[in-house]
Amino acid sequence: MKILVTGGAGYIGSVAVERLIAQGESVVVFDNLSQGHREAVHPGAELIVGDLADRSAIDAALSSARPDAVMHFAANLLVGESMQKPFKYLGDNVRNGLNLLQSMVEHGVKRFILSSTANLFDQPERIPIAESERIVPGSPYGESKYILERMLAWLEQTCGLRYAALRYFNAAGATEERGEDHDPELHLIPRVLQVALGQLDKITIFGDDYDTPDGTCVRDYIHVSDLADAHILALGVLDDRSCTYNLGNGRGYSVKQVVETARRITGHSIPADMAARRPGDPAELVASSDAIRRDLGWKPQFGSLEQIIESAWNWHRAHPAGYGG
Ligand SMILES: NC(=O)c1ccc[n+]([C@@H]2O[C@H](COP(=O)([O-])OP(=O)(O)OC[C@H]3O[C@@H](n4cnc5c(N)ncnc54)[C@H](O)[C@@H]3O)[C@@H](O)[C@H]2O)c1
Repeated sequence: MKILVTGGAGYIGSVAVERLIAQGESVVVFDNLSQGHREAVHPGAELIVGDLADRSAIDAALSSARPDAVMHFAANLLVGESMQKPFKYLGDNVRNGLNLLQSMVEHGVKRFILSSTANLFDQPERIPIAESERIVPGSPYGESKYILERMLAWLEQTCGLRYAALRYFNAAGATEERGEDHDPELHLIPRVLQVALGQLDKITIFGDDYDTPDGTCVRDYIHVSDLADAHILALGVLDDRSCTYNLGNGRGYSVKQVVETARRITGHSIPADMAARRPGDPAELVASSDAIRRDLGWKPQFGSLEQIIESAWNWHRAHPAGYGG
């Protein structure tokens, strides 16, 4: 198959490209490099530098690549920023996705995979969170993904598009060659490892009075390779049907557990300050991955927090300046 991967120079997209190429697929990356890194793109993939806001650039990429499927990772993805700049999300994320989808339909490309998010579940009634859970987006970012999910259902009905919407919980970890290098870096695991590398003095834990075993927020961390493999499995079912899955390990770890595990793995004391809760952080977000395990046979290879942090630590130690090094 030939797959066009938007955002394939970014964190998760670049690992998906690596896995696709390892499976013998042919890959074209479409990325504006606003957050991504040229160095993150597997040398076996073709890189087209272009912006999803530019319909003609997408048309040109689809005309020349003629892909069988599109994996759409490219997006603005900061929950907090989306509360400050809603139009960057409700506007750009939605418009860019729509540009891509319209161009795909016009070019006869009928398979699509969307990076969706756990931010659809701001007020879960049951943990672990199943696909049947009530959707309450927690921010304009989450809403932008939900709007795209709903558009996909209409495009299936009206244009015969087949889609997989994969709602990731917290992506983490690294492969030997590709890891997390965001600017700014707001995710917990890379920030904790920046402290261990001496690049940050300490980390801040926001809130220790949640209704969780140790009072800090509980999240579900899924290794980026396991996430990438779920995309490849989802691609395999699109000839038969569309699908929507929640995607996490199904186990929650508190912020304190992440910090303690990183201390053990790095041998660094990793000082941590306590601060007040941040608005909009739910106490616990853990996915039920029962459906994707049952239907697609997905099984995480990196199920433990130790494995996830260890892989990230290996990458950050080898690339202390990220891709910039
Ligand atoms: N990282 C997570 O934990 C997480 C969790 C849930 C969902 N997601 C979703 O997964 C996807 C990938 O996340 P990531 O962490 O790899 O992000 P990332 O920022 O590392 O990668 C996104 C890539 O998209 C590119 N891009 C952004 N806007 C573009 C545009 N207009 N045109 C072309 N390219 C553009 C960037 O340059 C970057 O390479 C996003 O859609 C995000 O919403 C991520």
